[in-house]
Amino acid sequence: MSATPSPDNRGQWGSKIGFILAAAGSAVGLGNIWRFPYVTGENGGAAFVFVYLACVLIIGLPLMWAELAFGRLTGKNPVDAFRDTGEAKNVWLYKFAGPAVGWLCLAACFCVLSYYGVIAGWTIGYIYDTLAKANLEFKTFAANPNWVIPLFAVFICGTIYIVQAGIEKGIEKWSKILMPLLLGLVFVVIIRSLTLEGASEGVKWFLSPDFSALNGKVVLAALGQAFFSLSVGWGLMITYGSYMPKSQNIMSNGFWVALMDTGVALLGGLMVIPAVFALGFPVDAGPTLTFETLPAVFEKMPFGIVVGGLFFLLLTVAAVTSSISMLEVPVSYFVDGKRASRKKAAILVGIVAFAVGLPSALSFGGSETFSKIVTTNEATLKITDINASVATPEKLSTVIDGAETEVGPMNYSVTNLEDLKFAVAEKDHNTTSGIIEALKGENVPHLKHSESANGGQVEFVLVSVDGGKKSVAEVRRALARKDIRIPESAVSLSPTSDSAKARTDVSFAVPHSNTNAVYTALVENNATLGFASIDLSTESTTFFDIMDKYFGTLCLVIISLSVSLYVGWMMDSRKMVAEMEQGCSGFTKPLFGNVAPADIWIFFLRIVCPIVIFVVLLGKFGVEIF
Ligand code: PHE
Repeated sequence: MSATPSPDNRGQWGSKIGFILAAAGSAVGLGNIWRFPYVTGENGGAAFVFVYLACVLIIGLPLMWAELAFGRLTGKNPVDAFRDTGEAKNVWLYKFAGPAVGWLCLAACFCVLSYYGVIAGWTIGYIYDTLAKANLEFKTFAANPNWVIPLFAVFICGTIYIVQAGIEKGIEKWSKILMPLLLGLVFVVIIRSLTLEGASEGVKWFLSPDFSALNGKVVLAALGQAFFSLSVGWGLMITYGSYMPKSQNIMSNGFWVALMDTGVALLGGLMVIPAVFALGFPVDAGPTLTFETLPAVFEKMPFGIVVGGLFFLLLTVAAVTSSISMLEVPVSYFVDGKRASRKKAAILVGIVAFAVGLPSALSFGGSETFSKIVTTNEATLKITDINASVATPEKLSTVIDGAETEVGPMNYSVTNLEDLKFAVAEKDHNTTSGIIEALKGENVPHLKHSESANGGQVEFVLVSVDGGKKSVAEVRRALARKDIRIPESAVSLSPTSDSAKARTDVSFAVPHSNTNAVYTALVENNATLGFASIDLSTESTTFFDIMDKYFGTLCLVIISLSVSLYVGWMMDSRKMVAEMEQGCSGFTKPLFGNVAPADIWIFFLRIVCPIVIFVVLLGKFGVEIF
């Protein structure tokens, strides 16, 4: 098979801006506005953002160039591209390893499409929700199969429709109109979000890093997010590169795509996170974050219905320009080598992706089986407020030994308790009392509370609160949700007035089969142990999260590692440099001293990328090098 692209039957991008917008259309999607804010929320804020930016610059961009150049050099879909160039050095690579990576690319695109379509379906539902002022509660909406499944189906049909018709004209044309419009609306929403009272705390959290929050998990999440968002590590840029004419400049094209993508991600964060803080939602809510917060923002803004409706419409569009590119990757495999017609391939792959996506659609309460997947064979037993002076570890062990079962090591946590004081205006008295009852049950446990009137204000004291600053934030958020706002300086903490100054909680793991015995033994002995409550919980995950973890993160990391090794080491690097040089004559001209952009690129591709990705991967499997 020849390695020359055959533009006549495979199609090409019409113009530089056409390619940039199509590739940016693929890159800019739900990953920026939906995934980025919630992954940032789950991983501690600004420090994560910082690592993410570093990943884009030193790993994402060199790999994007590598994928584009590899695609344009071979003119093939990922599977055939790896197969055709594999003869370079080694038969084993040629026959198995190369094509295996190619197949992994197809699998990643296909599997992510299956759950990406579910979220995209939600965006369609929210167009209706906003325009019709339906005020759907998100949880009810996402758990209702009668809504989410048809919406998912509509979205997949749209995707199939565009891909089967051939993408060049459709995507190029629509990307040029819709991307600028999306950007404009993003700015409108950001302005509203930033001017909400209390938004500045969110901005601070988003932009001023606390590096103590960094660990291996955060770095993997940042790297995964960079790959997800840039559409790098999917073979997608190989496919899109294969449609690129030789006259185009891979370096500047790739740079623009990365810049637009990162820019929109940061804007997406600024749009969602300050609003989350201002409106008192928990920032680590996960995939549902955007859908719970933004409708509340739109409700509060003038012309919110129109702006909100348009916003979700454009989010749908951003999702379509991404999902067509995901479908395009497996379809290009069938079309190349005439394994099937474009139309048949698109319909078939699309329908199977829909079927595979059904469990993801049911992962948010639609089906118990897919929403609560138990992955460990242990439950965690947590005993709160155990009487530390009486219930020594020895006593606890004796009780549990009576149940004749093995339990995990006991984790003790001693908390110093404080009293939390604040005042609200008299008119807000009743509302505040109601809120405090609710706080007790969830985020700010306390022993009791007292209220006293004082010159038009009512002062509240929550006795024996734990969590310090965290409880201050929780209290302010709970009040903000009811439109009662108090400044941080108006809340004070002091050592608790109650005699029990410290509180001890104990938790340990118990195998599922023995939970009953241990639980009963503890309850029966509570006269001596004197604890306040005991709580049994089992960690569970959803089908959706499993797909995202393995295909939307792990798979990308593996593919990227393979691409950097394959293109950097197995292939003739002169060939790759020559490919980059076409359309970018400065690529091999020295930039400073003897060093040309080509040298820097090869260095990152060969050394930096594989090492960083490998270390992160090891961390994933529990090996911490740093
Ligand atoms: N980059 C897209 C996003 O941010 C997702 C995507 C990945 C699309 C890979 C196509 C291929 O939403």
